[in-house]
Amino acid sequence: MQATIDIEQLGFDAGAHVLVKHALAALAPGHTLQVRGRACGWEGQLIAWCRTQGHQCAFAPDGAGGNVATVRHSLDSADGADSAPPAGAAGRWRGALRTGHADPALPGALAAHADARWGLAARGATVEAGSPPIAFRLAGRDEVWGERAADLYAQAAAAQWDPQTAIDWAAPFELPDIVEDAVAQVLTYMIENEVAALVVPARFLGQLHPHYREVQAVLAIQVADEARHIDVFTRRLRLKGREPGLSTAGGQASLKTLLDEPDFSVAEFLLSVLGEGTFVSLLHFLHEHAPDPVTRQIARLAARDEARHVAFGMTHLAARLDSDPGFRARLANAVQSRNDALSATSGLNEEVFDALILLAAGALTVPAIAAGYLKVQQLMRDMAEGRQARLERLGFGKEAAQHLSSLHTRNFM
Ligand SMILES: [Fe+2]
Ligand SMILES: [Fe+2]
Repeated sequence: MQATIDIEQLGFDAGAHVLVKHALAALAPGHTLQVRGRACGWEGQLIAWCRTQGHQCAFAPDGAGGNVATVRHSLDSADGADSAPPAGAAGRWRGALRTGHADPALPGALAAHADARWGLAARGATVEAGSPPIAFRLAGRDEVWGERAADLYAQAAAAQWDPQTAIDWAAPFELPDIVEDAVAQVLTYMIENEVAALVVPARFLGQLHPHYREVQAVLAIQVADEARHIDVFTRRLRLKGREPGLSTAGGQASLKTLLDEPDFSVAEFLLSVLGEGTFVSLLHFLHEHAPDPVTRQIARLAARDEARHVAFGMTHLAARLDSDPGFRARLANAVQSRNDALSATSGLNEEVFDALILLAAGALTVPAIAAGYLKVQQLMRDMAEGRQARLERLGFGKEAAQHLSSLHTRNFM
């Protein structure tokens, strides 16, 4: 049956094109649309609109003193997410590009390589020919993907907390000056580590092809998490009138190697799997042993966020190693060369190490320091065991895992 639409008195300067466009979109492939109208000059307007859309249009007398137009769609299925325009499609959709599918679970949804010509388009969109190419350095699926990306983003979005209300800033406590100083020193160290953990994913975020939007979302919310950690650590540091303490050359040298790493997977491995994984142990330690309730609360909340950052590093590295088992050797080399690069730094972490002992001791007495020292020794063992376990989960043998764990930076991150 011939599809017909009557646009009555509506002109193309008043929205008639919307009716014609939708009537065309409903047509079966190869069918035409008849258009009737009565607005003054509608025929000329329809011809002009069809030209901009690439549709063909012809007129015949309607037998009542007017005209009826026959419009042939330039493209039978331009707006279906699954469909690319057929080869040889006429008009503006000639050469349009298919961009996968919004749902990553559907077959073919994710390209092995994302095309620069897709630019910023929503995954699943049909991109008009002539759109400007946008070069994203990270455009290969195996370079960036992790199976749990969408799930981890959803968890992160649901777990965001408000620094103002999630922490009882007014909780009463007074620490001996020397212990409060130790807390401030540990937090000074933690803040610069958090800054590195913000800057590293933020740098990759701007280089990541938006086709892999689940990874983009994970990195974006990770950056927001780190901004919140910097905020709450700074607030706690200043809660009793202290200012930040010492930032060591060795600590910054360690963090700079993370910033300098150009490969996304290697950076994820060093920062998230090894560094943030180790940092989670430190946060658990602070949650358990910090001398005041505010530090204990912020350590608990930050540890929950950090666990997700580690989980993304793990899911990405698992996928990367699955597609390229040889990459394991590259990861091992990265740990070794980082260790070599940092071997010249002296006194690494001493300020933090001693501050942790005092913080866990809670007082400057022989029995308190003895107990604090033992707690920090246990922390070091927990950190090493955690790193080994994660390395083994990524397929490193027991000995290799122990060796690589032992080469990990003394800065923890
Ligand atoms: Fe953090
Ligand atoms: Fe983190």
